[in-house]
Amino acid sequence: MGTYNIALVRGDGIGPEIVDSAVRVLEKIGQKFGHTFHCTPYLAGGCAIDATGKPLPEETVQGCLNSDSVLLGAVGGPKWDNLPGELRPEKALLGLRKALGLYTNLRPARLYPALKGECPLRADIVDEGFDLMMVRELTGGIYFGERGRRDGANGPEAYDTEAYSVMEIERIARAAFDAARKRRKKLISIDKANVLETSRLWRETVHRIAKEYPDVEVSDMLVDNAAMQLVRRPSQFDVVVTSNMFGDILSDEASQITGSIGLLPSASLGASRCGLYEPIHGSAPDIAGQDKANPLATILSAAMMLRYAFDLSAEADCIEAAVDQVLNDGCRTADIARGETKTILGCQAMTTEVLNRI
Ligand code: IPM
Ligand code: MG
Repeated sequence: MGTYNIALVRGDGIGPEIVDSAVRVLEKIGQKFGHTFHCTPYLAGGCAIDATGKPLPEETVQGCLNSDSVLLGAVGGPKWDNLPGELRPEKALLGLRKALGLYTNLRPARLYPALKGECPLRADIVDEGFDLMMVRELTGGIYFGERGRRDGANGPEAYDTEAYSVMEIERIARAAFDAARKRRKKLISIDKANVLETSRLWRETVHRIAKEYPDVEVSDMLVDNAAMQLVRRPSQFDVVVTSNMFGDILSDEASQITGSIGLLPSASLGASRCGLYEPIHGSAPDIAGQDKANPLATILSAAMMLRYAFDLSAEADCIEAAVDQVLNDGCRTADIARGETKTILGCQAMTTEVLNRI
């Protein structure tokens, strides 16, 4: 029986609704298994801009650093879209990842049998199912490289630079090999080594680290091909490791073939004990405050927190089984509802269905 301090970064748009859903689930788990989860809210993103003028107040960084773990909803919205880059809500997320040293982003994507009908792929592909883990590098690459505006040969231009150090590639490669060891022992490293120098260093380094993991089968795939293979035959993937930007793009693609981006959780881990758990989707301002959001990605992120941050695997399994059950029982939020769905549940009602199965 433990006591855990969790920093809650609800953020913007649907962020508050989905985080509150996950907190209800954590409370239920606490009752069932005898744990106490102390949750302290912190501002980040657009709401922090409105309240303090800054997307990521220092108090938030400190609060997260002093917690055992961070649960985040989503940041951003049209209200703040025209601010300069440094002041945008997204900067809060990037700043938090960087400040907490969260270089490993785990994004699992699997096809729930109950949602086969939601998968946009052909039936024979869907029948094979898929269960993959995307390991995305999260604190380097083009997201954090030098950028700016300048006068170029043809007038004004903008630039963003991709840089990766050997150290950054080594540590994400090890994280991916470790993940592969716990799964089907197959790792695919995704890059653009036919064009980019960072990718050539990436490939070289991954192959060197591979020697430490003779039990894991490793291969390379170019990112354009990977985008195609993900929809051609997703069952070929077990663990995938890739750079920050490729991982951003490919994880959205992977989410859509599960049926909805509203289902995908993520864990961001680093050297420090304090990880960050968040759904991979955004703040969905179009449905914010209407009780329409799918809370499952955030609920599943809380399950990942229990498993990775607190080593509470029975508790995590319990949440994941409840989500499986909810889907098997036909409970649907709007994003995963089809023509024949009779009742479409809101965010709160869906959460209650999960609670009833814990
Ligand atoms: C994600 C998001 C973020 C990213 C945005 C909001 C900065 O798309 O977590 O995938 O690009 O990393
Ligand atoms: Mg993204």
